[in-house]
Amino acid sequence: MYRTNTCGELNLTNVGNEIVLSGWVHRIRKMGGMTFIDIRDRYGVTQLSFDLEVNEELYTQANKLGREWVIKVEGIVKERSSKNSNIPTGDIEIIANKLTVLNKSKTPPFTIEDDTDGGDDLRMKYRYLDLRRKAVRKNLELRHKMTIETRKYLDHLDFLEVETPTLIGSTPEGARDFIVPSRMNQGEFYALPQSPQLFKQLLMVSGFDRYFQIVKCFRDEDLRADRQPEFTQIDCEMSFVDQNEILNTFEGLTKHLFKTLKGIDIPDFPRMSYADAMKYYGSDKPDTRFDMQLVEMKDLTKGRDFMVFDSAPYVGAICVEGCAAYTRRQLDDLTNFVKRPQVGAKGLIYLRYNEDGSLKSSVDKFYSEEDLKLWAERCNAKPGDLILVMAGETDKTRKQLSDLRLEMASQLNLKDKNDFKCLWVVDFPLLEKDEELNRYFAMHHPFTSPKPEDMHLLDTDPGAVRANAYDMVINGVEVGGGSIRIHDRELQNKVLSVLGFTQERAQEQFGFLMDAFTFGAPPHGGVAFGLDRMVSLFAGLDSIRDCIAFPKNNSGHDVMIDAPSKIDKEQLDELGLSLVKLKE
Ligand code: AMO
Repeated sequence: MYRTNTCGELNLTNVGNEIVLSGWVHRIRKMGGMTFIDIRDRYGVTQLSFDLEVNEELYTQANKLGREWVIKVEGIVKERSSKNSNIPTGDIEIIANKLTVLNKSKTPPFTIEDDTDGGDDLRMKYRYLDLRRKAVRKNLELRHKMTIETRKYLDHLDFLEVETPTLIGSTPEGARDFIVPSRMNQGEFYALPQSPQLFKQLLMVSGFDRYFQIVKCFRDEDLRADRQPEFTQIDCEMSFVDQNEILNTFEGLTKHLFKTLKGIDIPDFPRMSYADAMKYYGSDKPDTRFDMQLVEMKDLTKGRDFMVFDSAPYVGAICVEGCAAYTRRQLDDLTNFVKRPQVGAKGLIYLRYNEDGSLKSSVDKFYSEEDLKLWAERCNAKPGDLILVMAGETDKTRKQLSDLRLEMASQLNLKDKNDFKCLWVVDFPLLEKDEELNRYFAMHHPFTSPKPEDMHLLDTDPGAVRANAYDMVINGVEVGGGSIRIHDRELQNKVLSVLGFTQERAQEQFGFLMDAFTFGAPPHGGVAFGLDRMVSLFAGLDSIRDCIAFPKNNSGHDVMIDAPSKIDKEQLDELGLSLVKLKE
């Protein structure tokens, strides 16, 4: 028998019991004639004690163990004289009477501790050792609980979990596809799904009514802290529902997850239009844990011969509470921050509303005290506040102000990881124009339904058409998105043509979907959540990598298994890749 108990469960009620534990040598402490060893498994750590005086052979054996060796120990549970209240087993220790080495271990390349000395690269190369660390494992435990609670909640509401294929054709969702060559059909390729979008819609045509799937999705896009090339969605679809019913259902799921996993009651989610999100936050994923909304100032700033403002279609500000005393140096740093290529602004104007009520700005030459007073009033500023102003093209400047807003929030520690502010952003535009290519792209995806009241604009002003599309945003993170779908062949055709698809290409790529729409497709809609993002938010992580067992690094590599990697010529030949003919 390897064990009678785990290393995380013994306590004073077990004193006197004869037990067997198996696990890894976590720490060894040698103190005179006593050696203490912490034995660790997934469940916790238990102290073993070896006394030279009591059993010299066993004591000698224990002293030969090394970190991360796998051992089995038999012994008796005894109350500890010096207790450790930080761990559940801290009141007891095991007086060992037999020790078996199950496997030796080389010294690990980093310490298996919460506060490890291992750098990122090293930990990723030995991820299986990294996963022995409690800090990492508990993220995966949370992830497990989240999928269990999601399944419970959705099952309770009659959602059916259906698996959809992973080897499919290309689905256009905005990113590039990962392509898989077909050996049996040489010169032909599968694509890995960016999401099961089309399949879930087809399941609605099949009458499944309520579908969900916890599913891997693949996108070949540039990686960031919240993006992995393969990630997991909680993907859902419903028939015979309007947008409101979908929002309520999935708001319910999110509240359920917060309640069961974190014990937090989240109030009803505010719903903010995309237009308001852009106007007040400069972002379609506003972080509403803190205020600092964007304030429009164009009317107050014009006509004073300050060309930067006069020539700009948009002038906007944020009011930063309590920062009027920012030094020249700090303000220069902020100016440098907005001038970084990632933000891309030309400059930054400030107005200090000093504690004594006086106003001091970087544009005093152009604006009178009266003018500046109006600025401060517009911003609802109080003495002690700092107003930061930027000007330029509307969308760009709003985005820059949003970056500045987030930077100020970081500097002022306003991003409390234990505070969760959820909302829906609704009424997204259907299309987004690429000015360079002079063509429209679907803002969500091409299967999203325009709002009926905007339908008439499809021909005349497509950019102004709003969609029945929505995102769930928590603390500035887009955790999910979805839409009501088109279920009518004609309308689908029309939207595809606005997106620049010829009849032939539309038929070739989506003929099966549009055909399905002619066989009684019900009205339907849905949403998909990024599971990785949701878990990392719940766990307060900075990157979704930390809640993925075997993630890719920022260049898309798995450094542990060395993927992607080169392949042999034979394998290439077998796939017929050297002979591939391009599509006409
Ligand atoms: P969307 O593309 O918005 O919608 O994706 C849904 C959610 O998936 C998460 N996500 C990602 N997470 C980690 N790494 C990535 N590379 C990544 N890309 C997306 C985000 C996002 O909100 N089929 C539609 C959903 C629908 O319309 O029902 C879709 O995939 O949290």
